[in-house]
Amino acid sequence: MPNNPLPLGLITHSLPAHWLTALDGQVNLLHGPTDATSLAPELEARLGDAEGLFCLLTVKVNEDLLVRAPRLRVVSNMAVGYDNIDVAACTRRGIPVGNTPGVLTEATADLTMALLLASARQIPLSSRDAREGRWQTWSPTGWLGMDLPGATLGLIGMGKIGQAVAARAAAFGMRIVYHSRSERDLPGCERLNLDDLLAQSDFVSLHVPLTPQTRGLINRNSLHKMKQTALLINAARGPVVDTAALLEALQAGWIAGAALDVTDPEPLPAAHPLYSQSNCLIVPHIGSATFRARQRMAELACANLLAGLRGERLPHCINPEVYAAQKR
Ligand code: DGY
Repeated sequence: MPNNPLPLGLITHSLPAHWLTALDGQVNLLHGPTDATSLAPELEARLGDAEGLFCLLTVKVNEDLLVRAPRLRVVSNMAVGYDNIDVAACTRRGIPVGNTPGVLTEATADLTMALLLASARQIPLSSRDAREGRWQTWSPTGWLGMDLPGATLGLIGMGKIGQAVAARAAAFGMRIVYHSRSERDLPGCERLNLDDLLAQSDFVSLHVPLTPQTRGLINRNSLHKMKQTALLINAARGPVVDTAALLEALQAGWIAGAALDVTDPEPLPAAHPLYSQSNCLIVPHIGSATFRARQRMAELACANLLAGLRGERLPHCINPEVYAAQKR
């Protein structure tokens, strides 16, 4: 038995070893399975001894988990969003919570543009028609889509990802309007109130975190305010959109279409009627799914975990108030 045993760190999923090299020899790591949708039983069994928790956004870190983990000194979420974590409950226990901002901004903005372009230009539908034998000739009227130059893109949320989308959209000649909590004016973009943004936009793209204020932000009421020709893009969090209202909007033609990287529930069950809507493009939460972004997210999550285990300030801490409390 070594004098100073390594601290026990639970990692909710198996991840490529080269993403986690910073933890080698530093942490006694116990991995969950690759496809875990919640904390695996073998990890549950060790919660009482765990000093660090490295988790993905599919695992809920709530009061129920925290009471069973009295030795926990750090929670490190491998995501920029942290709506899976009860941050207030962590703060009450003095546990710093880390996330991974910055490193997935460009990948998520690229995916947003991919969704926008794919739905504007009918790529899923036309690709399926080609594959299934409905491409008989060059058709002057077939698979017509929307032009981007001069079209208005309404961004709801203008943090790092919203701004990265704006930069890309500007290069396509789009007019960019936005609605944001922050008072900061952004050059080349026009700030609007939410109703005006919904009424004027040809594309509405969501880039807000999931909070009590943003849950259901896009609902029957807001969908009715959008143009009938408009497309909705969601690469933020599923519950920002009321799924039943969106389905109704797509079926009834209140809006022209939607492109979703995130859904509510998530994953969307295979039999869900949204999949039958030809005007709805759905991909499985792949906004940050590039080799580089995912590796950098893991590396940042490792840095947060290690700092927490060493009693140092996390490089990216969601609840820095835990440090102020320690000084008192
Ligand atoms: C996040 O980081 O919050 C994304 O949703 C997953 O990359």
